[in-house]
Amino acid sequence: MDALESRLADYLKRQQHKDLLRFITCGSVDDGKSTLIGRLLFEGKMLFEDQLASLKAESARVRTQGGDLDFALLVDGLAAEREQGITIDVAYRFFATDKRKFIVADTPGHEQYTRNMATGASTADLAIILADVHRSSELLTQTRRHTYICSMLGIPRLVLAVNKMDLVNFEQSVFDNYTAKYIAFAKKLGIKDVTCIPISALRGDNVVGPSPQMTWFHGPALLPYLETVEIAEKEEKRALRMPVQWVNRPSSDFRGYAGTIVSGAVHPNDKIKVLPSEQEAVVTRIVTYDGDLEGAVSGQAVTLVLDRDIDVSRGDLICGEGDLPMVADQLAAHLLWMAPEEMLPGRTYLMKIGAITTETTVTALKHKININTLEHTAGKTLGLNEIGVANMSVARAIPFEPYAQNRDLGSFILIDRMTNQTVGMGLLDFALRRATNIHWQDLEVSRESRASQKGQKAGIVWFTGLSGSGKSTIATALEKRLFALGRHSYMLDGDNVRHGLNRDLGFTDADRVENIRRVSEVARLMVDAGLIVIVSFISPFRSERQMARGMVRPGEFIEVFVDAPLEVCEARDPKGLYRKARRQEIPNFTGISSPYEPPQNAEIHLESSKHSVEDAVEEIFAYLERNAF
Ligand code: ADX
Repeated sequence: MDALESRLADYLKRQQHKDLLRFITCGSVDDGKSTLIGRLLFEGKMLFEDQLASLKAESARVRTQGGDLDFALLVDGLAAEREQGITIDVAYRFFATDKRKFIVADTPGHEQYTRNMATGASTADLAIILADVHRSSELLTQTRRHTYICSMLGIPRLVLAVNKMDLVNFEQSVFDNYTAKYIAFAKKLGIKDVTCIPISALRGDNVVGPSPQMTWFHGPALLPYLETVEIAEKEEKRALRMPVQWVNRPSSDFRGYAGTIVSGAVHPNDKIKVLPSEQEAVVTRIVTYDGDLEGAVSGQAVTLVLDRDIDVSRGDLICGEGDLPMVADQLAAHLLWMAPEEMLPGRTYLMKIGAITTETTVTALKHKININTLEHTAGKTLGLNEIGVANMSVARAIPFEPYAQNRDLGSFILIDRMTNQTVGMGLLDFALRRATNIHWQDLEVSRESRASQKGQKAGIVWFTGLSGSGKSTIATALEKRLFALGRHSYMLDGDNVRHGLNRDLGFTDADRVENIRRVSEVARLMVDAGLIVIVSFISPFRSERQMARGMVRPGEFIEVFVDAPLEVCEARDPKGLYRKARRQEIPNFTGISSPYEPPQNAEIHLESSKHSVEDAVEEIFAYLERNAF
């Protein structure tokens, strides 16, 4: 080893023994966030160490060049990354001073998007809320929202960095005024630990050392504060929880369960229980790439080997002795909505919680939270950045703990099934009922026997298309033909069902989702009863048609797209509704002021303006015959 290398090794060793503060900065580019992060990175030393392997290539570039970087250049670089888009979730930047190591979750993105912020915040020890006092002497909604999210995510400490003091002549009264309002707001949220520091990120005042311009301020500057603030102890006395990420079975005589321990500790000979099955076993080995361990604690990724062969699969939870987490499929949760498209109760989303991905729906939004007044307000849906409390129904029972007890087992993200985008995040509050209390009653007479008694195969013929496209006309003719042939069918038509079962629903997106959800459930029961169910609803959204399809078995759902151009439907206008809609007498009218998402893979595509009703019925009929209905 030459001199340089040994010096480097020495340096690394020292680095590893410094403690680590994870923090997040909340604020927008205009508030001076890039400038502040740039200055901290510039004043601190960029790190060289093996732990950084997980860093994104981009931040690696900044890190390794950091020592020689010009300050302005660094700031430009950060701002440029940000402008490139809102798709980069979080860039973790590492730096160190002589006293401590730091990981700052830098959350690029348009200030409107809280998605990135929430991602970075979930592991932070501390949050810096950046406010621009020059822009406004009042608390902006954005500042309140960031503070609320930090408190909801349980970040134990907040720093309010009152920025751009240089633009208000370093006036103490401006600072005092602003911080008084902020502290009053934080108090309402039950946040106890707030430190307020007046700074100028651009000029460096109170960033690394005391500012000669603000001798009236007696607290520490920002960096010295970050270097010395106590980091809340991670609790290690809690019971073992390890979600199984995958089952490791390289050979027939080795089977291990791999995952990251999210709380507690494990040692060989410990008794464990696996949820949801509640099977018991004893740990025999803790295997890692670097050999077996005598013990492992939360944060470590390990493979556990057990003393007996039990049935464990991905998504199961390995728990220590003592209190077990709840297993439930009906939950109450705080939701933070992060997508421009509103959250629709009744729509199926994917929930990713720990190692589990499963389908979920919001069964009811209980209330929204007004971020300015903290009042609860009524509402059915959530828009971008809105926060609410909801009841959720999950497709499979999941083991979980309330977020307040366990950040990893109590938080989830919601993904849109059509776009694969993360649209929301949630924090679990409590279970609404235990999954085990209501069982599916297996009926003695099977659906097959019911259908075969009728001499047919059961299924759903689902018509979708604009109002006036001819859905009901074709559906009615189809039903007549089936009836004449002795087939047992039933038709569900939008206009009719909306007179009874769905009388309480209108035409907002949320109501249409609920309309289709109920009709799909009814159609499913009718398929169970052995019927050929004909459904004729506009059903404008792909997501809900997909949900309906998923309720029956493959091959039992026949989507018929009755495709007529809007102009044709509008010219026909059998109920005079298009005319009214054009005069703006009907809001949210499909095709005019409400969207229609045409099917991409319908089993049958009918261009109803080009063919007769008889031809259309013939085509569907031929399809049914070919497929043995
Ligand atoms: S869906 O979109 O929720 O599937 P559904 O098929 O139940 O709609 O009801 C559509 C019928 O309601 C139309 O055929 C029309 O007669 C009537 N209607 C009344 N208002 C509207 C509206 N705003 N948009 C579409 N259809 C409407």
